[in-house]
Amino acid sequence: MRILVTGGAGFIGSHLIDRLMAQGHEVVCLDNFYTGTKRNILKWMDNPYFELIRHDITEPIRLEVDQIYHLACPASPVHYQFNPVKTIKTNVIGTLNMLGLAKRVKARFFLASTSEVYGDPDVHPQTEDYRGNVNCIGIRSCYDEGKRVAETLSFDYHRQNGVDIRVVRIFNTYGPRMLENDGRVVSNFIVQALRNQPLTVYGDGSQTRSFCYVSDLVEGFIRLMNSDEIGPMNLGNPGEYTILELAQKIQNMINPGAEIIFKPLPQDDPKQRQPDITLAKSWLGWEPTVPLDKGLDLTVKDFRDRIEGNQK
Ligand SMILES: NC(=O)c1ccc[n+]([C@@H]2O[C@H](COP(=O)([O-])OP(=O)(O)OC[C@H]3O[C@@H](n4cnc5c(N)ncnc54)[C@H](O)[C@@H]3O)[C@@H](O)[C@H]2O)c1
Repeated sequence: MRILVTGGAGFIGSHLIDRLMAQGHEVVCLDNFYTGTKRNILKWMDNPYFELIRHDITEPIRLEVDQIYHLACPASPVHYQFNPVKTIKTNVIGTLNMLGLAKRVKARFFLASTSEVYGDPDVHPQTEDYRGNVNCIGIRSCYDEGKRVAETLSFDYHRQNGVDIRVVRIFNTYGPRMLENDGRVVSNFIVQALRNQPLTVYGDGSQTRSFCYVSDLVEGFIRLMNSDEIGPMNLGNPGEYTILELAQKIQNMINPGAEIIFKPLPQDDPKQRQPDITLAKSWLGWEPTVPLDKGLDLTVKDFRDRIEGNQK
């Protein structure tokens, strides 16, 4: 198949491309390199089955493809809040453009949505029928409301135009190739520990998160894309850790002498988030297989290579 991956030079997109290329597909990667980098896809550049197009999805594009994995959107608060209007445009106009393309060429369309559509949830864990507790005027709204509209657009194109859609709601995912400066908790702690800086915990560290290793997530993507279900479907790791526990794990792994310091919680930071993955288990037989310690090991190794490599 010829498969388009928008945001393919990013963290998750590049791991997805690795899998699709290994499966023998022809892959077109579309990216404006806002948070993505050529380094992530460098190994495919000379492969005749791989094509890279520098393009901003807020502009329309014409391509012939069989499937579209639509991931283009900055995912970390630091980056999506840097230019919130652009983030909304990417989510709304960009998703419209990609759905328009899917409609025109009759491609199956996969939307990478997010657990942020649940906002600061007041039910726990979150099942797909939970409608969320989202602040539509807060500083995260460009992203979470943007993704909610992207889901609405997907379902309307499906109902109105028969576009074959798949929608996943991704929970915190981590792994090699996360950006060093993206402000996400796993990368923050790892970078701080490697640089001998104190690990910064926001709030008292009792807020919880779940962490899914990227290869598990990509396996879920491919299974849903090639199933008959449309979603929305949660994909994430239900194993729940407090932020303080995570800080301590990384501290012990890299630098047991590192200090842990506490800072005030940012606005609208959810207290608790954990996926209910019953649907993914029963529809796809999918569940995460990589334990946090192993995933962190692989991630720390990648950061070490980049950070210590850069210093040489
Ligand atoms: N990483 C997570 O934990 C997580 C959680 C929930 C949802 N997601 C979703 O998964 C997708 C991928 O996330 P990621 O972690 O790989 O983030 P990322 O920032 O590494 O990747 C996003 C990619 O999209 C590209 N991009 C951004 N705006 C674009 C535009 N207008 N036109 C073309 N390309 C554009 C970036 O350059 C980058 O390569 C995103 O849609 C994100 O919302 C990720």
